[in-house]
Amino acid sequence: MDRPLLIFSGQSNKPLAQAIAEALGLPLGKSATQRFANDNLFVRFEESLREGDVFIVQSLTPPVQDHLMELLMMVDAAKGASAARVTAVIPYFSYARSDKKDAPRISIAARLIADLLQTAGADRVLTMTLHSPQVHGFFKVPVDHLSAEPVIANHFATRVDLENAVVVAPDAGDLKRASSLARRLRLPLAFIDKERVSDTEVRVRMLVGEVKGKTALIVDDEISTAGSLVEAVEALLQAGAKEVYAAATHGVYVGPALERIAQSPVKEVAATDTCPPKVGPKLKTLPVAPIFAEAIWRIHRGESVSSLFT
Ligand code: R5P
Repeated sequence: MDRPLLIFSGQSNKPLAQAIAEALGLPLGKSATQRFANDNLFVRFEESLREGDVFIVQSLTPPVQDHLMELLMMVDAAKGASAARVTAVIPYFSYARSDKKDAPRISIAARLIADLLQTAGADRVLTMTLHSPQVHGFFKVPVDHLSAEPVIANHFATRVDLENAVVVAPDAGDLKRASSLARRLRLPLAFIDKERVSDTEVRVRMLVGEVKGKTALIVDDEISTAGSLVEAVEALLQAGAKEVYAAATHGVYVGPALERIAQSPVKEVAATDTCPPKVGPKLKTLPVAPIFAEAIWRIHRGESVSSLFT
């Protein structure tokens, strides 16, 4: 695109936005967000966006509603300031978990947010590892859906002896992702049938696959309260796994997550920096700014992004 490329950030993950801008050799654009006494937000770009190709980086991390509203207001303000094109870069799209009507009288919030982003004026969306890929279809504007699989595969390949390892899907929703990772690493696959008891508690119903004596590599889209993770680790060790490592795209780590991980026999838990990284003796951060920067550069130049999806 023959327009200036401009990168801005909301409040949710400025270090990632900064790293993306740096990888592109650009300064992070100047903007300010303020909260009024009545709790209303106020956002303002502090430089011209006129005819710019504008990318606004905002992960939907807690406080999710504030970050969502800030993103909507930034998109709206960018359109109002005559940006030529506005891309919402949402490294972690938390509401992707609300993707179906699986109970009466509930909202498919992921679709609602897709509608809101489009109403605000987003021309495109760039995101990574949606909880379920069909959320993509809630948008009428183009969505580029990046994958953290290459980063996670490379991480496991350097941290673990893959000779005697098995990739584990900790629930049905992760089966496709885990299967793809297993193919990439040329490893067998195991699968856990998980039942969610509450928002923070899960129960393992069944483990399918051979894990005895093996190094188990759990791969998940996100680790929120770490309930799924610690239950999966227990089930794998009970089934005779030698050791367990885990990796997820989104390390949200809320509520009891850090304590649960500290007390779990899991060897190491890796997550990318789509959410601001947390620190802990077993936690590892996998940077994804170079992938986002490459995608933004290609989108800006009108080049294919598809090789970054796999
Ligand atoms: C669930 O369907 C997802 O794939 C993750 O396993 C889940 O979001 C993790 O949540 P938590 O860490 O709270 O168990």
